[in-house]
Amino acid sequence: MLTDLQKEIIHLKDEKNAIILAHNYQPKEIQEIADFLGDSLELCIKASEIDDKDLVVFCGVDFMAETAFILNPDKKILIPDKDAECPMAHMLSSDEVKEAKEKHPDAAVVLYVNSLAEAKAEADILCTSANALKVVESLKEDKILFGPDNNLGKFVARQTDKEIVLIPEGGHCYVHKMFHKGDIAFAKEKHPDAQIIVHPECNIEVQDFADAVLSTGGMINYVKESSYNEFIIGTEVDLITRLKREIPDKKFYPLLDEAVCKTMKLHSLEKVKNSLANEEYPISVPEDIAKESLKAVQKMIDVSK
Ligand code: 13P
Ligand code: SF4
Repeated sequence: MLTDLQKEIIHLKDEKNAIILAHNYQPKEIQEIADFLGDSLELCIKASEIDDKDLVVFCGVDFMAETAFILNPDKKILIPDKDAECPMAHMLSSDEVKEAKEKHPDAAVVLYVNSLAEAKAEADILCTSANALKVVESLKEDKILFGPDNNLGKFVARQTDKEIVLIPEGGHCYVHKMFHKGDIAFAKEKHPDAQIIVHPECNIEVQDFADAVLSTGGMINYVKESSYNEFIIGTEVDLITRLKREIPDKKFYPLLDEAVCKTMKLHSLEKVKNSLANEEYPISVPEDIAKESLKAVQKMIDVSK
């Protein structure tokens, strides 16, 4: 049953011909009013297919809303809380990418979609955790500059013959860095029949102990298709909210209760309502940067379809 506030948001959204896109880490009450819920790749693809809408409210972090703007420069893309930043995306500047390119002129540049628009403009192609290996393998170059997530880069490096150069040194997600192999041993002892699924942003020692390493969208599909009934989930805790809503007959345990992405949680129903009513806060990217980064975004979408 939807609350009055949720109903009000849906009414406003229809009135404004808007669409609400939300990432899988959003809390339950926002998941319930989203028109589309997904991982970064699914959200990018969806954002490239919304010609019939006038307004987009993006319940996610800055790089996701920016990517939606890059794909739709003529539309209003709104973010309910303008402080919803992904700290990892801010770890790699466009200057650092330029420097790395000068140092490795023979390398192609693959940037994780969790990066700033200015950095994206310097990339040959983007990737997400759902398609990173496929993207790297799609390139003719044998050497790849990969950033900003070192763990995702290492996850790819162990599955390809290409040389992966990580930029910047130490690029990471503080949420996924929380997990250690001791947490897996502890969770496994408590739930011996559970499968362990972790995100590729986790440390390699954690990936090594998992049954599967997947994007959040990949985790949902894996669980749906698995014959197992219990799962230990090594990613942000609200992915479990979605899993429980969609697959109520299976059991899910967070690898760590503390794995919360604080900025993802800055959005609230009240802020979503204000966002729709007052058309705040518009996300924009300077025209030249948007134009340049669109090439890398579009290339990724084409490789992924
Ligand atoms: P996914 O693309 O797997 O949903 O991951 C996004 C993200 O920010 C992970 O922390
Ligand atoms: Fe960024 Fe990590 Fe939050 Fe994902 S979970 S949005 S990578 S800080």
